[in-house]
Amino acid sequence: MKYSTNLVLKVNEIFHDIEGSKYHNKHPEILEDEQKRWGKIGKTLFGKLTRKITVLDLGSGTGFVPLQIAKFFKKKDLFICSDLSQTILDACEINVSEKKFKCNFEYLKLNGTKIDLKAESTDYVMMNAVVHHIPNFNVFFREIDRVLKVGGKLIIGHEPNKPFYNHRVLWNNFRFIYSLFYPVQTVAAILRKIGLYEFARRCYGLLSSGLKEENKLYDQVNKKLVEKGIIENPLSVKQLIEIIDIQSPTAGGHHKERGVDVNELISKYLHNYTIDHLETYNHLCDVRKKNKFINWYSSFLKQKYPTKGATLFVIMKKIK
Ligand SMILES: C[S@@+](CC[C@H](N)C(=O)[O-])C[C@H]1O[C@@H](n2cnc3c(N)ncnc32)[C@H](O)[C@@H]1O
Repeated sequence: MKYSTNLVLKVNEIFHDIEGSKYHNKHPEILEDEQKRWGKIGKTLFGKLTRKITVLDLGSGTGFVPLQIAKFFKKKDLFICSDLSQTILDACEINVSEKKFKCNFEYLKLNGTKIDLKAESTDYVMMNAVVHHIPNFNVFFREIDRVLKVGGKLIIGHEPNKPFYNHRVLWNNFRFIYSLFYPVQTVAAILRKIGLYEFARRCYGLLSSGLKEENKLYDQVNKKLVEKGIIENPLSVKQLIEIIDIQSPTAGGHHKERGVDVNELISKYLHNYTIDHLETYNHLCDVRKKNKFINWYSSFLKQKYPTKGATLFVIMKKIK
């Protein structure tokens, strides 16, 4: 890997400490797309459970997963929220406490290498939009496997599906449609290729308040990284984006080798797991609900390539 595990963890921690509480306002599409899915899964898996359970939500952020599903848990259940960033975990605790759910909650600060829980102490490990930040799958899934009971379930939501990004037809099809709807981003991709992205970003930031804010955020991240002695010289915005979303095929360019392939996860890290449920969607990647044609075309592609949508949601079972 181009970037060290330690650098990826530190950049993620600092970035989410600073960006933290604004996350949900900045990414409404995640809320829109995943709320219903998690709500449905929560009801199906936990709605009728009578035995006492412990669940661990990894990378809770401001509390998206508990806010969707904790209403299905009983008084005796334990819901552990966790994150690499203490600031975001504090925001999560405030948001969750406001809802007055029946079950018990604990908040666990993670360090990115070891989960501070006993072996086989959880019935479910779940996460939404987290795996694309993980530098080292080996360490990450080994720890998950350690804390999950045999018979327990691992739920991974909202991740880039590698088979989409490696599929020539689907990828080129997306790029063509995307360039029609998002010409500015297409120009940005070209600027990235010819090495003028940073310069253009700074210039355009003088005109656009949104971009100005973003540039400020990345400057703050760089400042903290230098102050803490993690880097000597500031990183470019492209590098920071590539590092923060280290497993994302679209962070700071097209990285075909990145993304999540469920079968690859099982064969490399989780051979004692089987797939209980897999769905893939967003067959036009982030070209969302633009018009009737786009909706129809996206559904058509979903029918033709059911396992090759750009985003995946999977439930796996630990069988031994
Ligand atoms: C995209 S946000 C998703 C938050 C929340 N799950 C949601 O769906 O809104 C990713 C979260 O993962 C956390 N994170 C990043 N790297 C992590 C790591 N190595 N271990 C655990 N959490 C991590 C970030 O701090 C951030 O809160």
